[in-house]
Amino acid sequence: MIPMIDLKTNYKSIKEELLIEIEEVLESSQFILGKKVSLFEQKLKDFLSVNNALTLASGTDALHFAIKTLGIKEGDEVITTPFTFFATAESIIYVGAKPVFVDIDGDTFNINTDLIEDKITDKTKAIIVVHLFGNPSEMDKIMDIAKRHNLKVIEDCAQSFGASYKGIKTGTFGDAGCFSFYPSKNLGAYGDGGLIVFRDSLIYDELKRLRNHGSLGGYIHESIGYNSRLDEIQAAVLLVKLKYIIKYNENRRACAFLYNGQLSNLDSIKVPYYSPDAYHVFHQYTIKSPKRDYIQKILKENEISSVVYYPIPLHLQKALTYLGYKEGDFPMAESVSKEVLSLPIYPELKSDDIIKICKVISQAL
Ligand SMILES: Cc1ncc(COP(=O)(O)O)c(C=O)c1O
Repeated sequence: MIPMIDLKTNYKSIKEELLIEIEEVLESSQFILGKKVSLFEQKLKDFLSVNNALTLASGTDALHFAIKTLGIKEGDEVITTPFTFFATAESIIYVGAKPVFVDIDGDTFNINTDLIEDKITDKTKAIIVVHLFGNPSEMDKIMDIAKRHNLKVIEDCAQSFGASYKGIKTGTFGDAGCFSFYPSKNLGAYGDGGLIVFRDSLIYDELKRLRNHGSLGGYIHESIGYNSRLDEIQAAVLLVKLKYIIKYNENRRACAFLYNGQLSNLDSIKVPYYSPDAYHVFHQYTIKSPKRDYIQKILKENEISSVVYYPIPLHLQKALTYLGYKEGDFPMAESVSKEVLSLPIYPELKSDDIIKICKVISQAL
């Protein structure tokens, strides 16, 4: 079976370094908010060229805390894409605000920047832009819209660690960048984890309190917070993997380019599009085809994994029916969800496997 991702092979390639780092944590017996977390946060600031970075328990918490600390609250509206993982919208709802969806671009799968301004009302407070599948959104256009309408910008970078647009890393354009270290992400832990980077140092203490029960320490609680700390063992794992992230992303890109070369001449397949200004990190390699279900069936018969991200756009999810959207509201997101198929991609994926996958697809069509 060719899997979607092979975390075991990755583990074996860095096993010795990982075990040394993890053992240091075990020997120190400091498991929460210790040296590894501080060092990892410093390395993240250096890597992303930002002044403020705090690790958290998940990417979902990063989004939730970004929205909260940027002052978005009940009655406010937040513009985002309906073609993303559910957590993007959930985080808006956590603070009592309303997600307002804007249809996507059928080529990049990201929010269609030409449609955003029509949806801005006097209740709109922010835009959450998602760099889906590792493909950076058009940040210059989004920042321009936000500036003209006085809106906050939150970047959901759960799938785009290391990606950049016009040479600037995703997560560093807006007011806050929110990352996930879920195990399958480009930079993945061995459990859950997240990161928020943010522009305004004034919210630093508030974010620190949010992740630790409203306290900056000493059992003094100034506000109501949460338990949302990255633990030391995950920080140890991530410190090792961060050393290799540039190579991992380069390998993913090489896999994607090989796929493109093999698949782009097939009539019924559209290979992923990305702007020449974008450094796409291919968290997913996602093709589009009207024959999607047939291709997936043939791949399965040939022991090749594939996954549909995402089969139901958010505006049609049962949990969000109260928002009042209906089928037909976002035709591009709906049509894309019927045609997309993500193929195996990971830094250790072999060229021979990619060629085999492409052969199976081309012979089937
Ligand atoms: C686009 C997107 N946003 C948010 C999240 C949430 O991240 P986490 O699973 O770390 O909470 C994910 C991760 O699955 C994601 O893919």
